[in-house]
Amino acid sequence: MSSPRRPATAADLALVREEHRVLEDLLRRHQEALVGFEFGSALGELEEFSRRLRRHIRLEEDVLLPAYAELGQPPRGGAVRFFLEEHAQIQERVEELLASARGLSVGSTSRAGVVSLIEREARLKALLEHHEQREEKLLLGRLAAALAAAP
Ligand SMILES: [Fe+2]
Ligand SMILES: [Fe+2]
Repeated sequence: MSSPRRPATAADLALVREEHRVLEDLLRRHQEALVGFEFGSALGELEEFSRRLRRHIRLEEDVLLPAYAELGQPPRGGAVRFFLEEHAQIQERVEELLASARGLSVGSTSRAGVVSLIEREARLKALLEHHEQREEKLLLGRLAAALAAAP
């Protein structure tokens, strides 16, 4: 992360919020395919989720977090490095899940194997939810207030 390449805009905030919903939807579609033993689609949806998540994180790290850092002393628990650490943790989890999804096959994967993958994904979902709540309250909320107050 360096100085902002360009200022954060209200459109960036709207896009990031919209993408949180899109990502949630992709993960749900991936899981629907999983429970149907449609492993090709399940992998495709998870790969799309991973690509969009990477792009999403890039926008947050290249534009929103530098703008947030310029607002000055962050509130308690709102340091930039916490967001960066969470991004790294989330992406690491997604890589692990992708590796598992690539190993699925109708011939060799049991129902128990699908259940155990869905349970691991529930932990990713909890992590994402917690992260997005923090972004909403700290990052997006403060940037929105700063934009509204700007001349
Ligand atoms: Fe994020
Ligand atoms: Fe986000």
